[in-house]
Amino acid sequence: MKTHLLIPAAGMGRRLGKDLPKALVPLRGEALLLATLKRFAFPWIAMPVIVLFPRGHEAEFRKVLASYPIPVELVEGGGERQDSVMRGLRFIKGEANLVAIHDAARPFVSPEDISAVVEAAERHGAATLAMPVADTILMNDGGGFLHNTPDRSLLWACQTPQVFQIDVIRAAYGWAGENGTLCTDDATLVYRSGHAVKLVRGSASNFKITTGSDLQYADFLMEHGFS
Ligand code: C5P
Repeated sequence: MKTHLLIPAAGMGRRLGKDLPKALVPLRGEALLLATLKRFAFPWIAMPVIVLFPRGHEAEFRKVLASYPIPVELVEGGGERQDSVMRGLRFIKGEANLVAIHDAARPFVSPEDISAVVEAAERHGAATLAMPVADTILMNDGGGFLHNTPDRSLLWACQTPQVFQIDVIRAAYGWAGENGTLCTDDATLVYRSGHAVKLVRGSASNFKITTGSDLQYADFLMEHGFS
């Protein structure tokens, strides 16, 4: 089954401390965005791939994508990740029934994990990769004191891709627009809109590059042939 691919890449990555958008930061000489896109070299990806870029940076994104062999629709993103995804969803046309949404900042997702989450979405309508947490998670009361310690055996850390039937994600965004709900990921939005979301166990290597040390670690993995 054909699946659309939507890549939110419109974050400026301020926690990375660089003065260019995070998706354009070089990793072993190649923009992070390209390293991530190459993970989706499947014949079942519907074209064009939709990439969200931050306002004012279209020309740099076009230049980076010039060497990429698959057609890309560049769409200006919004202030929050959710705004970016909403704009991207408007550009989905064609017959594919599913959309996979994957952060540009996760260049190490494996083909096996991508296939597993797509299969789960075919079956359940909505699915996300996620990882059971190893650490005990402490909830801050907002003032720097421990407020609650949720049962660790039930906690999973969210990853992407998150994959949805198109009518499910469109309905969730319609619902969010009506009541002003803002989420940092789409699976939560879909769940809050009333649709079940299947959790598919991912891999620790599918981490999100957020800080300078994440970037150093990513560089180390690539240097040592991780693929
Ligand atoms: O900010 P965070 O690291 O959670 O962002 C996750 C992904 O969402 C990144 O790939 C980033 O480029 C993207 N994003 C976006 N539009 C925004 C903010 C983040 O497309 N306004």
